[in-house]
Formats: sequence, C-alpha cells, structure tokens
Amino acid sequence: MKLSIHHYSEVDSTQTVAKHYLLEGDADEGTVILADQQLSGSGRLGKSWNSPVGGLYCSLILKPHSKPIASYSQLAFVIAVGIQKALHSLLPTLPLTLKWPNDVLINAKKVSGILIEIEGQDVVVGMGINIDSHPETGTHLNEYFYNPLTVENVLKPVLKNVWDTYQNWIQSGFESIQTEWLKYAYQLGEILERDGIKGRFIGISAEGAMLLENESGDVQSVTKVG
Ligand code: BTN
Repeated sequence: MKLSIHHYSEVDSTQTVAKHYLLEGDADEGTVILADQQLSGSGRLGKSWNSPVGGLYCSLILKPHSKPIASYSQLAFVIAVGIQKALHSLLPTLPLTLKWPNDVLINAKKVSGILIEIEGQDVVVGMGINIDSHPETGTHLNEYFYNPLTVENVLKPVLKNVWDTYQNWIQSGFESIQTEWLKYAYQLGEILERDGIKGRFIGISAEGAMLLENESGDVQSVTKVG
C-alpha cells in the first residue's frame, strides 16, 4: 500500500485541499488528505457534512488511468465495500448495510458517507465516518463499541481495506465487488419508488444503476439519486 497521509488540524474541506494538490500537479495516486475537523465539509447533492472533532474526514486521490472513465461510476461501490470490510474487521457483529448508491448504515442509520469527484482522469474520494457523534438522523460507531474508538483506530483499517478493494477492482474488474456489495445491500428485494419508477429492487447494473423490476417483469434502471 503506497499511501502518503497529509494531516491537517482544520480545513474547509479535505476535498478542496485534495483538488488543490491535483491542480498543482504534485499529488501521486494514494495521496490522502486527513483533517481533524472541517469548517465546511461537503456531502453529495450539494448538502453539507457535519464535521466536528472526533469523526474521520479524509480524501483519497486515485488515478485509475487503466480504466475507461465510463467505469468510474463503479468506484462508489468499490469504496463502500472497502469501508464495510474495514468496519467489520473492527467488529464483525456490526449490523451494517450498504445503501444505494454509496452510504454505509448501521441498523438502517447512516454512519458513513462517500463523495466521489472526478477531476479530468483523476478521482478525489471523500470519506466521512461518524465515530464520536452524529447529526440528528444518523448514528456513530462508538454507540456500538464498549472501548471507544479513536480516529486512528478507524483510519488504518479503512485506508487498508479501501486500497485493497480498489486494487482488486483495477486488476479483476467489478464483478466480485458487485456481488459483495449486494450481500449487504439495504432494501434489496423490497418494492421501492425512485425517480418516478416503482419496482422490486433486484440488483445493480455494471454501471452501478439501481435495477427495479415491475409487476410485469420489466427491469428499469435508476441512476438519479434523490
Ligand atoms: C454524503 O454522504 O453526502 C457524502 C459525505 C462525504 C463527506 C466527506 S468528509 C471528507 C470529505 N471532505 C468533504 O468535504 N466531504 C467528504
């Protein structure tokens, strides 16, 4: 694993710092920006990410140049599976599920969010994990740990498992990651309605779209979140 960690006590957003590194041309693949807290952490769909001290906030620079850009949509699942493996390595009994497209839940409450931003051919992967506290609607890891975890306890397995899952994707493709993700998929088999499409959630496509099967057996894909 060739990761180099740049640790800041406070930044606006580790995503912004990582993008600056890329712009300045001095960021190798495996560069990690880590911050103790973020003043304006960003989430998906223009939301903000609450980032007080005690949570894990980092951005990882990836350069999957051997892959077509069209396949970068698979990365959300690669990273979610990596985080799932890391959290299970800390506590195998954690009731984790993975919510399409890229949230990690414990007991159906969000514990971790992933933000994938494509910059030319490079990718900035933002990962936020609630360890000590959580916003109103989520949960945090230390609700489940008798001996409270620190950021360091969580960072090491997260980076290792995310990196290993990424390497697996680069070398062997999406299939095994897709299978792994589906094992933990939240609401798999349930009837859902997304983007005006209603059907049974039966899987994800090679592009990472959500597949919904209607009563007549027609399968439609959903790519739009929210
Ligand atoms: C989401 O679920 O909406 C994604 C949240 C991603 C949050 C992380 S925290 C580290 C990185 N820096 C940011 O500003 N956002 C991501």
